[in-house]
Amino acid sequence: MPKKTSDSGPPSTRGPKTLSDVIGDIAIVKPPAGGPGEKRAAAEALMLSMKNVKCVFEQSGGIEGEFRLRKLGHLAGENRTLTVHRENGCAFKVDVAKCYFSPRLSTERQRLAEEVGPGESVLNMFAGVGPFSVALAKKEAAVTSCDANLYACVLHEENSRANRVSSSIEVLNADAACLPGMLRERFDRVLMPHPSASDRYLSAALALVKRSGRVHYYRHVLGRDEAEAEKALKSELKRLLPAGFTSSTRRVREVGPRWVEMVAEIHRTG
Ligand SMILES: C[S@@+](CC[C@H](N)C(=O)[O-])C[C@H]1O[C@@H](n2cnc3c(N)ncnc32)[C@H](O)[C@@H]1O
Repeated sequence: MPKKTSDSGPPSTRGPKTLSDVIGDIAIVKPPAGGPGEKRAAAEALMLSMKNVKCVFEQSGGIEGEFRLRKLGHLAGENRTLTVHRENGCAFKVDVAKCYFSPRLSTERQRLAEEVGPGESVLNMFAGVGPFSVALAKKEAAVTSCDANLYACVLHEENSRANRVSSSIEVLNADAACLPGMLRERFDRVLMPHPSASDRYLSAALALVKRSGRVHYYRHVLGRDEAEAEKALKSELKRLLPAGFTSSTRRVREVGPRWVEMVAEIHRTG
């Protein structure tokens, strides 16, 4: 297990400034102002304005801990955290309190799915309930998924079946740091969608990618604009990458004031 460092990440994933999300029929909101009655009234008003929302929770704090979970308090509607979220023609069963899921990454998942070709071998080191892996398996990639959260792996298996790609995905409940010792295969692509801590696992990813393959290294980076974020990521990679690797970077999305999610595509040069 790599040495734990404090989470890197924007205030939106650490503090209470998180924006609202709608995942399936569950709305997650910033804590509304006022006492319990006013909070309930605000949540009920939200349900009236969004007919697809059946449950409303407030999220206190950020997305935290090893499993990247939200701390939720029930405000209105049904008191359940299990739902089915649909995106890009796929359906994902998610427990929003026990597993990570962000609907804001759907464009990135679609973008990656458009890049991947049939027969490619893909390792997703931080798969969660499987949204990246299922999207790539739909493009006929052969996917190995890993997550440390057992419940996320159970839902991932269900999601693979529900989306009819279970024969193309193997799900491992493991610490990504242990993968080089567990897997003999080397992959065309290694995905690292764990932007607050992927730096701790980069050496494992580099050990698992084919000579002609690529690593997708997602990071939360501090920067006033894309140019500054790119500079910060390039400087981190200069420190972390051994000789013989090169990278190109791209902005994924804004994640908080002055914080940007970036991805670096890392290749071997020789
Ligand atoms: C930011 S989430 C991304 C999940 C998924 N890729 C998605 O987009 O929904 C990071 C995931 O990494 C998992 N994780 C954290 N530490 C891990 C580790 N050491 N090994 C494997 N998985 C880990 C968490 O449980 C979580 O599901």
